[in-house]
Amino acid sequence: MSDATSSQHQVCIAGTGSYLPEKVLTNADLEKFVETSDEWIFTRTGIRERRVAAEGEFTSHMAAKAGQKALEQAGLSPDEVELIIVATITPDTLTPATACYVQQQLGAMGAVAFDISAACSGFLYAMKIAKRLISDGAFTNALIIGAEKLSSFINWKDRTTCVLFGDGAGAAVLRRAAPEEGSILATEMGTDGRLTHLLNIPGGGSACPITPENAGQHLASLAMMGKEVFKHAVNRMKESAELVIERSGLQPEDIALVVPHQANLRIIDAIADRLAVPTERVFVNLQKYGNTSAAAVAIALDEAHRAGAIKRGDHIVMVVFGAGLTWAAAAVRW
Ligand code: COA
Repeated sequence: MSDATSSQHQVCIAGTGSYLPEKVLTNADLEKFVETSDEWIFTRTGIRERRVAAEGEFTSHMAAKAGQKALEQAGLSPDEVELIIVATITPDTLTPATACYVQQQLGAMGAVAFDISAACSGFLYAMKIAKRLISDGAFTNALIIGAEKLSSFINWKDRTTCVLFGDGAGAAVLRRAAPEEGSILATEMGTDGRLTHLLNIPGGGSACPITPENAGQHLASLAMMGKEVFKHAVNRMKESAELVIERSGLQPEDIALVVPHQANLRIIDAIADRLAVPTERVFVNLQKYGNTSAAAVAIALDEAHRAGAIKRGDHIVMVVFGAGLTWAAAAVRW
């Protein structure tokens, strides 16, 4: 699905924020309860450690903290927020939406709030939706958040998945921009529902409720066919990044920074190579946090921004991939 070019209003990213829970779980910690090694995890993925939310710390709590920081940076008070979209596959409850809890925790009582479910692609799906709603004039600003408590949906005995994921939240404030300000230049998103079986949480939904009979089978945990996912991730991310670069009228050498989904360093290196962007212009923080699904690109964007790796006028490209299968990309002039 592509952008139309007749948007009424330009839309910029006015602030970013992130939150990571305090508890660090290292590869060495994992070695103690599952048959794995730091060497295997690091060489196959690039991950050294991940964060795990505290008991009683939910997705909404992390989302609200990341959102608060983004609002502060944007100079927007909670009562001015018009729209909150939370991208998550690990909601506090199946209903109501996690965004409703976030609205209440922020005190953003004037905002319309809802969730979207697009796995690791959710933050950029939210960006496209919010951008369009602002450019069409329905809202003047939006708080978009990617937040996950994946530790609640992991089978901690399954070494093929439990070493990969972590908890956290990232956020951005989008608002109507003046012509001289930066803007979101192009967005792209896609889905292939024929590949739902490659990566999913099979239980806990209406297809397979958790019952006393199946409760011990870890059906409400992430299941993945890693090799297949890897192949699709590289192809789809490359294609969608190329599309937004082309639609923005940019060349690879114009890109100051690529901020990709943080799942696997080998996937990121393969994409950088295919896009002909040198690795020093690709932001990576997965060694610290693992794959935090919808939160990953949002946390990376915030860390890159706060570290000074993104400056006013820079062109950046974000690109993501996840269960569904889903994928998305955005090109932004900061
Ligand atoms: N520790 C040690 N050994 C492990 C292990 C672990 N944590 N997990 C799997 N292994 C073993 C396997 O059992 C297998 O052993 P075998 O050869 O005796 O059968 C061996 O390591 C190789 O496993 P394989 O699955 O072929 O490894 P891989 O090179 O494909 O790497 C992933 C596995 C998951 C790291 C990789 O496929 C990947 O990153 N895929 C993409 C996943 C992803 O990004 N998902 C999220 C998308 S949003």
